[in-house]
Amino acid sequence: MPAESVLGLQWGDEGKGKIVDLLAQKADYVVRYHGGNNAGHTVVVGTKKHFFHLIPSGIFHKRTKAIISNGVILDLEVLAREMDILEKEGINLKSKLCISPRCHLILPYHKALDEAFENARGKNKLGTTKRGIGPSYSDKVSYNGLRVYDIIDWNDFIQKFTFQAKIKNKILKTFGVKPVNINSELAKLKKLRSRILPYVKDTFEVINDAAQKRKKLLFEGAHGIMLDLDWSPYPFATGSNTVVGSINTGSGLPINRLTNVVGIVKAFTSRVGGGPLPTELFGRLADAVRERGGEYGTTTGRPRRIGWLDLEAVRFSCRINNVNEIVITKLDILSGLLELKVCTGYTLNGKKIRYSECGYKELSKVKPVYRSFAGWLEDISAVRRFKDLPAECRNYINFIAKFLGVKIKFVSVGAERNANVKL
Ligand code: GDP
Ligand code: IMO
Ligand code: MG
Repeated sequence: MPAESVLGLQWGDEGKGKIVDLLAQKADYVVRYHGGNNAGHTVVVGTKKHFFHLIPSGIFHKRTKAIISNGVILDLEVLAREMDILEKEGINLKSKLCISPRCHLILPYHKALDEAFENARGKNKLGTTKRGIGPSYSDKVSYNGLRVYDIIDWNDFIQKFTFQAKIKNKILKTFGVKPVNINSELAKLKKLRSRILPYVKDTFEVINDAAQKRKKLLFEGAHGIMLDLDWSPYPFATGSNTVVGSINTGSGLPINRLTNVVGIVKAFTSRVGGGPLPTELFGRLADAVRERGGEYGTTTGRPRRIGWLDLEAVRFSCRINNVNEIVITKLDILSGLLELKVCTGYTLNGKKIRYSECGYKELSKVKPVYRSFAGWLEDISAVRRFKDLPAECRNYINFIAKFLGVKIKFVSVGAERNANVKL
């Protein structure tokens, strides 16, 4: 796998962190190429849980170097905190991590604006993570963004930051929100600047040199495909493109260098925040799956909404990314359910409708077409061979593979690195 990508094919939290960590064992480089610290990826090694918001999840392996490339937006405070934790755990970041100077910054006024817009939306709020994602990306697009590049020349940064912060403070004032304190924020940023600058390096050369030398590159998708800025039921999106194409814009790797696209499919559906979720479940069944699966946001701690597996949505994700292989995760969480349902399509007013034909209004009204499966009662978390899974469980897996027409790489039955079933 000279250049492989890992993408979550649903609404996020599919278990990307676990799978990236696992596949990174054989990688020379693992690359985060979009999104910010709205991402929350979990890696479990032995009994210890690690949470990643900005640093690529594969950093624990000796040979693997970590790259934060240009498409990522950086809250320097969060990055520095994550770096501190890893260093305390004995990871030598100096020899492992590099950060693109092209990364845009998430600045204090972006977080304040995210919060102010959400509060102003009232009952129509989107349920963002309030990490400043939308406002930072929108500054990038409107040429008002400040980048890691800009903190190199500190005096210049002071001027640029002050100019932007004054404008943002006027906007914050119209929301009736406390303005950001320019001097104290600059003092904080100055400290963070010296922490980060030693890691700043042109990541285009690193990535493309590695690709030329046939080194193994692993690209870590940060958010689910259903949250893509263009392909979600907008505005219920995140601020970046999550589809495979953003590897090119977000890292500089030509897309035809990519040799494998691995899609992660959680055995059921979850979503955090607002927006339509056609297969959503409520009541005791949803609560039971949420509790069993620990379905609470890794970034915000919010309870995740729960639904049946939506293969209409996943099929769209497979097609738009040309997924070659899938990993099914959290199958162990479905043990004990007598009946399982899988959505194989949608109808609207009695007519078949595809995911891509729906805006958010249609998607909130579609009726899922379900296929029912017998469940299994056995705990499968210790199973490691496909033939040892209950027949009902194998049937569920086989149906997913056949429906999507994509090979299953393996199935994950626990949070720990090695809790996997080979096919
Ligand atoms: P990500 O954002 O896609 O990386 O996923 P999160 O880390 O936010 O959420 C996935 C959660 O499920 C984490 O707590 C993982 O440790 C856990 N997890 C991943 N795969 C499995 C699995 O196969 N079984 C179980 N029980 N937990 C898993
Ligand atoms: P991982 O990497 C789940 C959702 C938010 C919200 C919407 C917009 O853990 O899969 P934003 O703060 O990005 O402007 O919020 O996107 N969202 C996620 N949901 N997992 C994530 O990341 C998410 N990143 C963003 O909940 O609905
Ligand atoms: Mg997550």
